[in-house]
Amino acid sequence: MDKKITDPNHIRPNFQNVPFWNPTKIHDHEIGKKIHRMDLNECPYPPSQKVIEAMQSVAGTLNRYPDGTCPELTPLIADRVGVPIDTITWGGGSTQLLTSIAEISVAPGQNLVTPHLIWRRFEGVFKIVDASVTSVPNKVDGGIDVEALTNAIGNDTRLLICVTPNNPTGMMLSEDEIRHVSENTPENVLLFVDEAYHEFAVHAGGPNALEILKERKGPWVITRTFSKAYALAGVRLGYAICSSPETVNALRMVSSTFNLNGFAETAAVAAWHDPDYTQFILDKNAEERDRIIAGLQDMGYEPMPSVTNFVSCDIGRPGAEVVTAMRERGLRIATVGGNDFTNFIRVSMGIPEDTDAFLENLKAVLG
Ligand SMILES: Cc1ncc(COP(=O)(O)O)c(C=O)c1O
Repeated sequence: MDKKITDPNHIRPNFQNVPFWNPTKIHDHEIGKKIHRMDLNECPYPPSQKVIEAMQSVAGTLNRYPDGTCPELTPLIADRVGVPIDTITWGGGSTQLLTSIAEISVAPGQNLVTPHLIWRRFEGVFKIVDASVTSVPNKVDGGIDVEALTNAIGNDTRLLICVTPNNPTGMMLSEDEIRHVSENTPENVLLFVDEAYHEFAVHAGGPNALEILKERKGPWVITRTFSKAYALAGVRLGYAICSSPETVNALRMVSSTFNLNGFAETAAVAAWHDPDYTQFILDKNAEERDRIIAGLQDMGYEPMPSVTNFVSCDIGRPGAEVVTAMRERGLRIATVGGNDFTNFIRVSMGIPEDTDAFLENLKAVLG
């Protein structure tokens, strides 16, 4: 072998020197200590008892591969949201679907349009597909600028991304804004709406994005998840509702054949059949959100008007410093990221005791 080596690196340029960030890591000195986990927008309550029992009942079948098309769960959802069964597909968390959606729509070098301030995982997705990314600044209040977004669509654009309610702002698009995006995204562009916080938006009286997208002529996909309002982040189950079976087939093609775990469908069916528990989660979340917003306002801050299970707020000094100081006190909260939002922190809703600890410690840290 005397072939001339032109590129000695076996890793694609986009993945070289990318530091791995493990958001769930517990540091050695934290082991065994009380930690208020308010950084990952998780549900602070365990899955419902019915879900736990249902999962126990299938534990003995885990020697078999599960049916990743979720034949029992799909018709339940299709019926509730009014779409054909063959327009829904599943991912190992909606996180997996984000990558798949970009993979099926944008070839390397083609363009995608995205708001600048969205969930940070999208940065990884953009590296994977190697797209040209048009990142559209958010409005001053952090909201997604839908006009600027659709104006940024060019001839090479194949994917337009919206997140509503958005992470890290917690703010949702209005009915008019969703309609604007739907009507002004050309028919050769896949319109992707990430609705990981859908149930919280509905609870807050938000618009029905799906009904608006159903009127759209061009292709669209909406993703939702069982991680948040159904208290099932650990089973990793999300779904995509698509404008056509063709999109579903493409998404299945790029996901692994056995991309779900053997507990996921059973857990989700049980959660779906336990709406009282979901209602409990949503009600409790709204109570703690109100308390956190009021507490921050009492301290003289103006939190973003979140409808979700987290609240972001400008605290007038680098958010990263406050996150570190809070972690030393046993509270995990997050930064917000984005060029114009470095003085913000993001806190996920917990149980009442977490809210108390958050407000008390934040006061101490901010002096
Ligand atoms: C906007 C957004 N989309 C998707 C996800 C991923 O959720 P999951 O993969 O648990 O379904 C998150 C998680 O926090 C999120 O904030």
